[in-house]
Amino acid sequence: MGDSETFPAPPARPFLRSLATAFALLAVACAPLPAARGEGDSQAAKPEPRKPANVMGFEGAAWLEREGRDEAEKPEVVLAAMELSPGMTVAEIGAGTGYFSRKIGKVLGPKGKVYAVDIQPKMLDLLKEYAAKEGVSNIVPVVGTETDPKLPEGSVDRILMVDVYHEFQKPQEMLARIARALAPGGRVILVEYRAEDDSAKHILADHRMSVDQVLAEWLPAGFQLLRRQESLPSQHLFVFAFRRGARAPGAGEKPPGAP
Ligand SMILES: C[S@@+](CC[C@H](N)C(=O)[O-])C[C@H]1O[C@@H](n2cnc3c(N)ncnc32)[C@H](O)[C@@H]1O
Repeated sequence: MGDSETFPAPPARPFLRSLATAFALLAVACAPLPAARGEGDSQAAKPEPRKPANVMGFEGAAWLEREGRDEAEKPEVVLAAMELSPGMTVAEIGAGTGYFSRKIGKVLGPKGKVYAVDIQPKMLDLLKEYAAKEGVSNIVPVVGTETDPKLPEGSVDRILMVDVYHEFQKPQEMLARIARALAPGGRVILVEYRAEDDSAKHILADHRMSVDQVLAEWLPAGFQLLRRQESLPSQHLFVFAFRRGARAPGAGEKPPGAP
């Protein structure tokens, strides 16, 4: 008879058991960077090249403000991952109607500022209306272009991009500008619907991205993956910093896997 049969493990005490469960859940939520895949370094798996998706037109803006979005997408998890403090300078690129910009503006307070960047002026008109209705006055709408979010260099503490990166028609040019806009110690928070499983099957395939697709474009552009969270119901969340001294590819220089 083996030891394991002779001495079965004593049942864990309830407190220890719940502590162990809490640690296990935390470990799953903040997915570690598996060394075997090379996640976080530039050896990430090389996916099939992707084509940028069509830009979501302002005609669909109501979907961004739909009832039930808070429950379905848990924006509070995104805000927590941003590690915001009052007075910060933040940019949301692809802000749409400002669903996130307004929430961020409320956290930053009167001394903070949110640059809400979009390429569709009509989206920004809606954003201004919603912000005025909610009394959020620290949002600065910015009309960007396909290659330039028009952000001041070296000045932005956090850049948020939710469901927009896959729509960038010129992703390398945008990544180079994003790198330049970051203040020292700045972070980029990227949220994209999952392509790997059915958790985002309600979203068109070309509006979803896999972890490999994201890393194959961001790591060669000089970004370092600080953290990946899988605690949102249907989206990946990445936190990136720009490696100081790294040279972001300029126009015409494509990282592998990029369209
Ligand atoms: C699917 S919506 C997401 C809006 C917002 N992030 C949200 O989650 O509610 C994508 C938005 O990104 C904008 N967009 C697409 N390409 C862009 C670019 N290169 N620069 C800035 N905005 C862009 C679109 O105009 C659209 O308003």
